[in-house]
Amino acid sequence: MTWPRASPQPFPSVARRCSEREDRNVLDLDLPLIAAPMAGGPSTPELVAAVARTGAGGFLAAGYLTTDAVAAQLRRADELARGRPFGINLFVVEEAPIDDAELQRFAAALEPYACEVGVELAEPRFDDDAFAAKLELVLEERPAWVSFTFGCPDAEVFAALRERDIVSAMTVTDIEEARLAADRGADVLVVQGPEAGGHRGTLRQDVWPSDTPLTDLLRDIDAIGLPMVAAGGIATRADVRRALDHGARAAQIGTALLLADEAGTNPTHRAALRSDEFDTTVVTRAFTGRPARGLANAVARLDAPAAYPQLHTMTSAFRRAAASRGRADLTHLWAGTRYREAQSGPAAEIISALVP
Ligand SMILES: Cc1cc2nc3c(=O)[nH]c(=O)nc-3n(C[C@H](O)[C@H](O)[C@H](O)COP(=O)(O)O)c2cc1C
Repeated sequence: MTWPRASPQPFPSVARRCSEREDRNVLDLDLPLIAAPMAGGPSTPELVAAVARTGAGGFLAAGYLTTDAVAAQLRRADELARGRPFGINLFVVEEAPIDDAELQRFAAALEPYACEVGVELAEPRFDDDAFAAKLELVLEERPAWVSFTFGCPDAEVFAALRERDIVSAMTVTDIEEARLAADRGADVLVVQGPEAGGHRGTLRQDVWPSDTPLTDLLRDIDAIGLPMVAAGGIATRADVRRALDHGARAAQIGTALLLADEAGTNPTHRAALRSDEFDTTVVTRAFTGRPARGLANAVARLDAPAAYPQLHTMTSAFRRAAASRGRADLTHLWAGTRYREAQSGPAAEIISALVP
């Protein structure tokens, strides 16, 4: 099945559709907490199911996986979740013009680091993360929620999810993105602040994301009238309460779950989060070509061009090799500003310590 791009059809007013959507009790959670989708390993079916069994929302991350691997994760999470609802996040990757000369210059700066772990940088290449196939899969499998990040799908995609009673969510980082998502038919807005670990969900990779704090974003975006999930730097009970006080229906927890027993966070990343070697986080394009927040290591401090996903494909073997050799100075170590609050232990205990 192929999905058409932007639709020219007029839509009923956002306000009317928002109130219809409100009526669907879209989040249907016992606890106002959702595990953030974390691609690249951390969001295992075990983590998702352990969170879902507490009455909070679990979220799988389809990014970077093959469609077959996503299907296997959906099945496994379903077996383990004991009937509790969970969701899945898909990347929407649109091809944008990139500056090849800049990318080559950056590759030259990175090469000595790649040599240190005995790999060559790969050829940069565009890849849409198999969006159409993954969408088709989730329409068949019907998890409770499907969320999108990086790009906003067309109205037909949101309509198809709604027809199947799947609640849709869109990651937004400012009011314009929120308006676009509401216009196209998203049920829920995941409002991601600059404090967030991992990639910013900004729709335009060439524009540096705004620094407006999460609570201010929530206050602005509340005017749209869709249920909001707050994401970014939420790592304690007080943080959760603050997000709910600013109008969010639920708080999304990313970094605070990275050390959970059930998370698939690699050992180099786990150790770095606990170590004194790093004392801050930075937003960097150096690993993937898209702004993302992680611990401030040597590579994260390099200035890199906007080139997602080409820079991601160019560096992924290098980053894997660095992680497997314990080279925390060279691999991406996604972490939000509140990473010092992350605790180890069973996910259910981490979630229960966050319930307001
Ligand atoms: C390791 C890691 C991987 C992430 N991967 C994804 C992803 O695949 N899709 C997505 O929408 N967001 C992803 N994010 C962002 C989270 O969904 C969420 O916005 C963020 O973790 C919230 O901020 P916090 O980390 O401070 O809790 C990732 C974050 C981290 C830390």
